[in-house]
Amino acid sequence: RQRQTQFIQQLLQASKNPQPLTPNSPQGLGSAPVNIALSKYWGKRDKVLNLPINGSVSISLPGLGTETVLKPLQTGQDKIVLNGEQLGADVTFAKRLSLFLDYFRSDACPAFTVETVNSVPTAAGLASSASGYAALVLALDDLFGWQLPKTDLSLLARFGSGSASRSLFDGFALWHRGEQEDGMDSFAEALDSHWPEFCIGLVKVDTKEKAVGSTVGMQQTVETCDLYKSWPEQAERNLQTISQAIIEQNFGTLGKTAEHNALSMHATMIATWPPIVYWQPESVAAMQIVWQLREQGTEVYFTMDAGPNLKLIMQAKDQDKVRNAFAEHGTQVDFILPFAE
Ligand code: DP6
Repeated sequence: RQRQTQFIQQLLQASKNPQPLTPNSPQGLGSAPVNIALSKYWGKRDKVLNLPINGSVSISLPGLGTETVLKPLQTGQDKIVLNGEQLGADVTFAKRLSLFLDYFRSDACPAFTVETVNSVPTAAGLASSASGYAALVLALDDLFGWQLPKTDLSLLARFGSGSASRSLFDGFALWHRGEQEDGMDSFAEALDSHWPEFCIGLVKVDTKEKAVGSTVGMQQTVETCDLYKSWPEQAERNLQTISQAIIEQNFGTLGKTAEHNALSMHATMIATWPPIVYWQPESVAAMQIVWQLREQGTEVYFTMDAGPNLKLIMQAKDQDKVRNAFAEHGTQVDFILPFAE
């Protein structure tokens, strides 16, 4: 915790507020989108500072995310309200949040009220920890009047959850692995792009809570999976290819590389002991629909995270074909256009 406290103190030196832990206003507001990695983060090189073994690149989904209101509390414990419901202090979600908030307590502000609303329909099967910690960090910045640049806020969000570092940005974001031991160069930044045809399709297989969370899952993989040895090199290569494909708006290269990257990550999960298999029969059935669509000439790809749901990587013009192909199997697809006007 000492290294973490040091890191945060160092960051807050850039704050516009000379007393960075004294509230500047009665409340702070923050909102952030969920993101989907096209080249994945899987594995930590430093668990304390939450530094990744490899960089990653993502796309944020507008309209799906978290809104947070943060208020200082003079006494007592944190009050954490999720989607209108106050959580007990022993609920895992509340515990993790309070641990994170410990870094930002002072005599002027010993506790917080956190009111957080996830606009991610629970049914979408999308992780909300990324948007959650990004929104919380934005709310902290607002409450304390830090006015820190987004890249610095990304460093803070990384402490809450690695993927949260990418949720500070709309559109494509690149989370740099970084080289420094102190972790100051492991932040995300926006990749400038406007790509109206770029489309994400959400295929829900199951929305129950996952059996193995990402933090534990990636640790087990790093410790026990022989296949993982080849992952860091592949992940960095895929990251370069996808970043370049974003600049060139080369859809085929982006989709192919993202699908290959996701399946390679899942291969390392499966080759972990005890095995981590997030797939369900319906996940594989959905993959087969994607492969069949490709055989028929529709350029659609998929990616998957630590869960059974598929996220389709596709182009806006193919929405009808994709919708119909999945409808034949009784499956609904929700489409999101990250760069819609
Ligand atoms: C498979 O960011 O949830 O979604 O840093 O331990 O909180 P922690 O892990 P988290 O891991 C996300 C893993 C992933 C891939 C990705 O989003 O890059």
